Amino acid sequence: MCGIVGYTGFQDAYDIVINGLRRLEYRGYDSAGIVLEDSANKFEVEKTKGKVDDLVNISKELKGRANIGMGHTRWATHGVPSDRNSHPHLSNNGKIAIVHNGIIENYDTIKTMLTEKGFTFQSETDTEVLVNLIQYFMDLNPEIDFPTAVRYALNEVYGAYAITVLHEDYPGVLVVGRLGSPLAIGIGDKEYFIASDASPFVEFTKEAIYLEEGHMATISLEQGVDIRTINDNSKIEPEIQKLKLSLEQIEKGGYEHFMLKEIFEQPKSVHDTMRGRLLVDEGVIKMAGIWDHVERFKNANRIIIIACGTSWHAGLIGEYLIEEYARIPVEVEYASEFRYRNPIITDKDVVIAISQSGETADTMAALKLAKEKGAFIYGICNVVDSSIARITDAGSYTHAGPEIGVASTKAFTAQLTILTLIAFKLGKHNGTLGNAEFMSLIAELDAIPKRIEEVLSSTHEQIQQISKDFVETTNFLYLGRGYNYPAALEGALKLKEISYIHAEGYPAAEMKHGPIALIDENMPIVIIAPKKGHYDKIVSNVQEIKARKGKIIAVVNKGDRQVSEMADYVIEIPETSECFSPIVASVPLQLLAYYIAVYRGANVDQPRNLAKSVTVE
Ligand code: M6R
Repeated sequence: MCGIVGYTGFQDAYDIVINGLRRLEYRGYDSAGIVLEDSANKFEVEKTKGKVDDLVNISKELKGRANIGMGHTRWATHGVPSDRNSHPHLSNNGKIAIVHNGIIENYDTIKTMLTEKGFTFQSETDTEVLVNLIQYFMDLNPEIDFPTAVRYALNEVYGAYAITVLHEDYPGVLVVGRLGSPLAIGIGDKEYFIASDASPFVEFTKEAIYLEEGHMATISLEQGVDIRTINDNSKIEPEIQKLKLSLEQIEKGGYEHFMLKEIFEQPKSVHDTMRGRLLVDEGVIKMAGIWDHVERFKNANRIIIIACGTSWHAGLIGEYLIEEYARIPVEVEYASEFRYRNPIITDKDVVIAISQSGETADTMAALKLAKEKGAFIYGICNVVDSSIARITDAGSYTHAGPEIGVASTKAFTAQLTILTLIAFKLGKHNGTLGNAEFMSLIAELDAIPKRIEEVLSSTHEQIQQISKDFVETTNFLYLGRGYNYPAALEGALKLKEISYIHAEGYPAAEMKHGPIALIDENMPIVIIAPKKGHYDKIVSNVQEIKARKGKIIAVVNKGDRQVSEMADYVIEIPETSECFSPIVASVPLQLLAYYIAVYRGANVDQPRNLAKSVTVE
């Protein structure tokens, strides 16, 4: 979603802001803008619908003009993507500039009040309302200073926000605030950076403050960083963190797209997820987050997994894993539905939230609800110190490294790896997974990165060829059974997200209850058919498709005969125990989606309308 970059220091603010916005492009956006405070303390603003390149085209002359400024990439919520609705927005008197990520839910009421007071609005945005509310407080109380007016205004709004604000009469001062949307402050030597995440400033400093919920900060070279609570202005001691992020991790490293890089990183990312946790020689899984609360899990009425999108698909596989090996009942819910359906939650429930970004607003809101009802909350997040990671009682990071491509790939397989570790660990503890089977499963899990490597090298070229045949296709079906039913859902989601081809995933047996009506010679069907896992049943499903002339792309184990003989395209993956097959089978499906999208000329890393972290409900 929207990205924010701010800077004050000795470097050219234009370069820092523009390069920073490029780093945040992965979040998804439809317009971009910049404001600089020039040497006469006057604002220079440029903004446009479109990409950062479009902004550069209209703003080049601002280069070298200022050492303080801020920029924004907007993902439209209130008002269509347009030049007018792009950020920054200025107050009516032109003295205050704001960039904002999030939604001001009561903007309409405030807008009505301000309109009655004579304020006018150039855009349809909630953000322009906020900046004028700040002016309103300054006009009303000439004795209060700029940060105080920002605080007053923030106390009047509800919703979610991360904001950065400049005032022409307060040269060199940046005021930032956060509630629900992330904001990091990079601490350099005689310079400060502000950004939605640390990627815009990682090459300049390794020290950062992650602003906490409900906090604001006033930042200037003279006074440093002054953090206060928004509600009562209490002073907060900044907690400076050392960044582990490296520049290399957020660059493409020779790959054409981040998505392809991230697909190829999976042998390493899955290995990193297990590092220090899976100790095969000692026959143990070390997971402090689980172990410290193992009785809570063991005695849970049930485990409720809440997540969205790809993370929800991982949750479905988690259900299969935990029920099979730990024999604890599991329910999986879309966070957005869970939150609004008055669910029954007790203090005997354990809620697992899965989120790559750790910032997804729906998941966050559902978690807060479960917490209020007394459930024990466990987080599986990729982004360290993210909002969800912070509000959970315990958790496990996936350690997949930064995922920049909007379509989740390596985070998904890392989530599956964590869920597998949790299931085996609980199973061993509960006595529902015997020692011999445990030992054999963990040895196999340890070798999964190798299996992924094999899949990447044996299928990469073949999938490029196959993909060429589907560039003009408009529909796809993905089928799988058992553990591979959610893998089919995930394969379909990947394709639709980046290629804009309509794709649906189904449990293979459900085909006869409806989707079979769609099958004819123009319908490609991706079917995941590993040896272990209802293979005979899948063979029957394939026969049914064949009889209706559907085009079959089969993902099968090496040496497979029955399904392969009927399929139009055969993609071979190594044989594994059923519980590991979604990890291995997902890799060719990611490649298939990727290459079909590339051949269709789609913007793979920043698909239209999508955002990497969905911070609005
Ligand atoms: O950051 P999260 O895992 O909470 O994000 C959830 C979904 O928004 C996300 O998985 C989305 O579906 C991705 N674009 C999938 O590729």
